Amino acid sequence: MSKNFDVVVIGGGPGGYVAAIRAAQLGFNAACIDEWKNEKGGPAPGGTCTNVGCIPSKALLQSSEHYEHASHGFAEHGIEVKGLGLNLDKMLGRKNTVVKQNNDGILYLFKKNKVTFFHGRGSFVKGDANGYEIKVAGAAEETITAKHVIVATGSNARALPGAEFDEKLILSNTGALAISEVPKKLGVIGAGVIGLEMGSVWRRLGAEVTVLEALPTFLGAVDEQIAKEAQKLLTKQGLAVNLGVKIGAIKTGKNSVTVEYTDAKGDAQKGEFDKLIVSIGRTPNTIGLNAEGVGLKLDERGFIAVDGDCKTSLPNVWAVGDVVRGPMLAHKAEEEGVAVAERIAGQHGHVNFNTIPWVIYTSPEIAWVGKTEQQLKADGVQYKAGTFPFLANGRARALGDTSGMVKFLADAKTDEILGVHIVGPMASELISEAVVAMEFRASSEDIARICHAHPSLSEATKEAALAVDKRALNF
Ligand code: FAD
Ligand code: NAI
Repeated sequence: MSKNFDVVVIGGGPGGYVAAIRAAQLGFNAACIDEWKNEKGGPAPGGTCTNVGCIPSKALLQSSEHYEHASHGFAEHGIEVKGLGLNLDKMLGRKNTVVKQNNDGILYLFKKNKVTFFHGRGSFVKGDANGYEIKVAGAAEETITAKHVIVATGSNARALPGAEFDEKLILSNTGALAISEVPKKLGVIGAGVIGLEMGSVWRRLGAEVTVLEALPTFLGAVDEQIAKEAQKLLTKQGLAVNLGVKIGAIKTGKNSVTVEYTDAKGDAQKGEFDKLIVSIGRTPNTIGLNAEGVGLKLDERGFIAVDGDCKTSLPNVWAVGDVVRGPMLAHKAEEEGVAVAERIAGQHGHVNFNTIPWVIYTSPEIAWVGKTEQQLKADGVQYKAGTFPFLANGRARALGDTSGMVKFLADAKTDEILGVHIVGPMASELISEAVVAMEFRASSEDIARICHAHPSLSEATKEAALAVDKRALNF
């Protein structure tokens, strides 16, 4: 096996493994180093996303949604369920199987594309524009060389000072995905993406969930109208979201954790929980890379400093994904990984940051792309808005899920679509049409004139586009 590579990728999450595959497709001798271990100590490539992020969270969201439907939703369809039970062991086991299928899938893809995989920690030894020496510390230690290095070492959950994660009572995303018994009372600090997704999972399974959020507004980055609707719907489901809180002391007992906090009115409060999830954002991971040793520059927040092309301060060293600026999303990491491999090959890899979709997989889902109404106002952009509620959509009625709406924002003069925001059933799938439209710089009229299948949820997208011109047909 050759130990000299054209491209070595450090980190096998969505940014790294995809970069390695694309590099191999482009004819490079490529390797990927990843240190994640499965429970038997074997390789588990796929990073946070596959092991303790996107994939396991979506598996549990799906299972818990089925449970909630069986408990409360089926009756309306005339389906009577008697003796319903929850086998949490099995549910968690299924989640683990789904994760393993994805780990194995990536190992298969490496073989298929002739990417050499190293299981262990990669760190810089030395190097310059002519090549880099990388130490791989795994079962056996070895040193490999590469002309180009792509760093894709991801991120870690941020802990609250004085409340380190023990994954028994104070849980990061890792512990939140593996609670072995449904807690009676679950506390969640941070009403962001993880807080709402994991809070929803455990609420559906029977926990009383209290979410404590520092900011006075719910989902501040989301279009206000959509965020308000989402807050109303999630609160109605029983998720208790407390905004504008200030977290004080967090103390763990034998089987419980107490959180002292000040509420939005300034009154002192105390919450006692069986488990506490802390989901207050993530920090870039550069541990063990020896970045300092080789002069790889970090920015003031600890991210690897990169330019618009993901070039770092070192020649032929690139960085992608959560370890660099920009949204911490798997698909953003993948796009950057592909673009970097293509740039190394002399092509014009490109990532359009204006059309990266966001999805929060609550029920209903929340998804958006482009500018929010508040951003357009702040930027002084003249715009037109059109909304269409799922209540008026035939397919949504048939599904029994009529919550939410689609909202279009288009330039007042040119009608170019500037943003699309959805809260509602299958928003994660519906948003793709908006992403495609925005990539092609379509107008709202383009969407309004396209034939959409009936009955389908996508008709709500067409109707919202029609509503921009005040000519929705079904509302
Ligand atoms: P990572 O996935 O973190 O991968 C980095 C890899 O590098 C890891 O395997 C790590 O072990 C390895 N590594 C680090 N240092 C070294 C080293 N020195 N040597 C060798 N290996 C090393 N995003 C979405 O788009 N959609 C979602 O639905 C979604 N859900 C999420 C749910 C949760 C609970 C969490 C926590 C995150 C979620 N995310 C989601 C975010 C997503 O997981 C990240 O944006 C994505 O994983 C980033 O990819 P990455 O390749 O940059 O890093
Ligand atoms: P987040 O940034 O989405 O939310 C963190 C929340 O915690 C914010 O609302 C913030 O105001 C609040 N907060 C921060 N400090 C606090 C404090 N001291 N007290 C109370 N509240 C505080 O971060 P989260 O949920 O940890 O997720 C990390 C990232 O992972 C996300 O930003 C996203 O990039 C990614 N992710 C993506 C998912 C998806 O695409 N569906 C799912 C889950 C995570």
